Amino acid sequence: MEVTIQIDGKELHVEQGSNVLEAALTNGIYIPHLCHHPDLPDIGSCRLCIVEVEGREGVWPSCKLEAEEGMKIRTDSEQISHLRNLSMELILAAHPEDCSTCPKYGQCEMQTLIQYMGVSATRMNTRVKGIKMNDSNPLIIHDMNRCVLCGRCVRACADLRGVGVLQYNKKEMETYIGTLHDRLLKDSDCRFCGACAEVCPTGTIRDMVNYTAVEKRDTLIPCQAACPAHADVPRY
Ligand code: FES
Repeated sequence: MEVTIQIDGKELHVEQGSNVLEAALTNGIYIPHLCHHPDLPDIGSCRLCIVEVEGREGVWPSCKLEAEEGMKIRTDSEQISHLRNLSMELILAAHPEDCSTCPKYGQCEMQTLIQYMGVSATRMNTRVKGIKMNDSNPLIIHDMNRCVLCGRCVRACADLRGVGVLQYNKKEMETYIGTLHDRLLKDSDCRFCGACAEVCPTGTIRDMVNYTAVEKRDTLIPCQAACPAHADVPRY
């Protein structure tokens, strides 16, 4: 059954119970999001996609919000912007600032999001995870220092491919994505389908063919993510 909802004053006719974030995106209304991927079940963890709903208290993650008849949704306000920026700062606290040395530089979803939101620095205590880059598997590189724990790879592995090799691990209070007993992918049930690399929004899980190393550049390209490490470099 179709219902009528309003997002930022725009009237939309969508299936009852459909995902508000998807409804907005397919109708040309952009809401920042990171853990959401159209092919994966939503977990609502990044809190970037928050919206306000008329008549309801607080903010709601639009990726976990079901469309209901007459719903009036706001995607931007002072409260939303404050909380959304705070969520981005929390994400950045555990992400290295060296964007320009990342092989995904310029093709990174997270970098684009940072630019869109204009939040490139964090006031939180930063945590360098110190996980060594792992390139001992065929086809896929793991650089877990860059992981923002959006969980897309875990869902792609389990829900999309039905394999379930990637999981959330914990060591000394730090959560990271790994395999059972930290086995190498080649020693696990991994089929090297590449779904994890495809959905990764950062340079964390990369396919070896396209993202082995930073391209050799003739000139210094200022960091588009405007990271603090490059604050003195002119941006364009
Ligand atoms: Fe909705 Fe992450 S995209 S919480």
